[in-house]
Amino acid sequence: MQNPGRRHAISSEMKIDSQKLILAAAKARKGSVSPHSKFKVGAALLTKSGEIIGGANVESASYGLTCCAERVALFNALTNGKKIFIAIAIVARCDGGPMPCGACRQLLREYAPDAKVFVANSDDLKKIRKFTVKELLPSAFVLVP
Ligand code: THU
Repeated sequence: MQNPGRRHAISSEMKIDSQKLILAAAKARKGSVSPHSKFKVGAALLTKSGEIIGGANVESASYGLTCCAERVALFNALTNGKKIFIAIAIVARCDGGPMPCGACRQLLREYAPDAKVFVANSDDLKKIRKFTVKELLPSAFVLVP
């Protein structure tokens, strides 16, 4: 290969279609299993190779066992061999869109540290707020070997 660093450079600079990813999160949200809170959340991860992997929140009668949409999407992607993530979109019906909880921020920081984060209200998918995983969780916990 003439320039081995080139492939990665292209993907890390690639233009991200935030609207498309938000639409995928809105679609994933339809899979929400939220009988307790009735608060449906959808998430969609964009991989380096351009694939989109979705997830939605799943609640338990033992409330603490509930899993957020972001983690369902992340676990889905990771357990299907995806390793590098460019962005995540999250959609729920709330003002400005749902900000990921602390637990999800930690996992995103570990497995998608360079990802952008897009959030939108399901009632207004065109208004997208943009963040980065690093800005949402500065000084993250890291396991000292
Ligand atoms: N929830 C998410 O899916 N993502 C978050 O970042 C925060 C909260 C879900 C968990 C629960 O099913 C519902 O929203 C209400 O907390």
